[in-house]
Amino acid sequence: MSAPSSASTVQSPHVMNTYGRLPIAMSHGQGLRVWDTQGKVYLDALAGIAVNTLGHNHPKLVPALQDQVTKLIHCCNYYHVPGQEQLAAKLVALSGMTNVFFCSSGLEANEAALKLARKFGHDKGIDRPEIVVYERAFHGRSIATLSATGNTKIQKGFEPLVEGFIRVPVNDIAALKQATEGNPNVVAVFLETIQGEGGINPMRAEYLQAVRQLCNERDWLMMVDEVQCGMGRTGKWFAHQWAGIVPDVMPLAKGLGSGVPIGAVVAGPKAASIFSPGNHGSTFGGNPLAMRAGVETIRIMERDGLLENAAAMGRHFTEALRRELSEQLASGAVKDIRGRGLMIGIELAIPCSALMQKALDKGLLISVTADRVVRLVPPLIVIAAEVDAMVAILAPLIREFLATNGAQA
Ligand SMILES: Cc1ncc(COP(=O)(O)O)c(C=O)c1O
Repeated sequence: MSAPSSASTVQSPHVMNTYGRLPIAMSHGQGLRVWDTQGKVYLDALAGIAVNTLGHNHPKLVPALQDQVTKLIHCCNYYHVPGQEQLAAKLVALSGMTNVFFCSSGLEANEAALKLARKFGHDKGIDRPEIVVYERAFHGRSIATLSATGNTKIQKGFEPLVEGFIRVPVNDIAALKQATEGNPNVVAVFLETIQGEGGINPMRAEYLQAVRQLCNERDWLMMVDEVQCGMGRTGKWFAHQWAGIVPDVMPLAKGLGSGVPIGAVVAGPKAASIFSPGNHGSTFGGNPLAMRAGVETIRIMERDGLLENAAAMGRHFTEALRRELSEQLASGAVKDIRGRGLMIGIELAIPCSALMQKALDKGLLISVTADRVVRLVPPLIVIAAEVDAMVAILAPLIREFLATNGAQA
């Protein structure tokens, strides 16, 4: 989400200036490869920021979408949409939860989650509900979701922020208990199972289990934003499943439609009946094209064993990076290589946004988040030879970057 900030970014004359864009434009893609309009080819370790689950021009997804386009793209929610029933049933089965609301993006899914939490409170007679959120969190760019976000750069200029958030550090159950001590207005805890924009920061399994227990004891909703880390990226359908817990509310988006805009909020029994007609809605949400994209994405993931692939390729990727950057890890120039499955962060000791352009020059798409974390979130169809090719470009780049910027091994 953070835009590249190097001198090489170029501004468009007519498109609003919200991203510092790198000076290329993409033309088309195939599998793990993308071509720019000048014909240069790139290996895609970014997947449109964890979106293109099935890579580009997937031979099963594209015909299904073409078929859907000829039938019905959109019809609105005044009517039943069979694709919503299909996709909701699938998400319910995969998550162990019960009901789904559909929208079109991550922030919309999070807005719905925040509204669920507030109404959960009001239904219990709490007039000023408060929601626990986290340092370094990222939940989106709407006024409510940027208020929940733990990054003052994203909030600056948009005050007054939405009130009703209590902020705590990650992985610190004592801090969470202390921050909420004796406060009768708390209604929910809202966390990313693995923080994405904040620098690939995983919540520990014991922490997630302790939060689950606390939410049970205090009758709070446990809400996990799996917009970036969900949909198979970590090797399980949802990243919290590694901790053996089930949340009450789970926003999804990004990888769910393999590139077709889609968002969803999955709810368990405690949250499934909070909304009634008139409480929430979305014109585009749950339209037949997006639903077909979601249903086909999951079908292909199951058929092709993409969860297993994400886990295996993630291990392969991480091991290769640890091997190639072992000296830099030992010296502290690379502070950490972390993540799970195909959600990998390489934290450097120095700011490194310039690596995005350098990788581009060498034919590799990556991003840098939280100033010093190289983020790798390739399509889940990636194979070992492609991982090796990515490492062969990236590791020397990082070594050279560290050496020339005074963070030598
Ligand atoms: C964890 C998380 N939540 C929410 C969002 C916002 O999603 P969108 O950009 O689709 O609104 C993002 C986007 O990066 C995200 O990573």
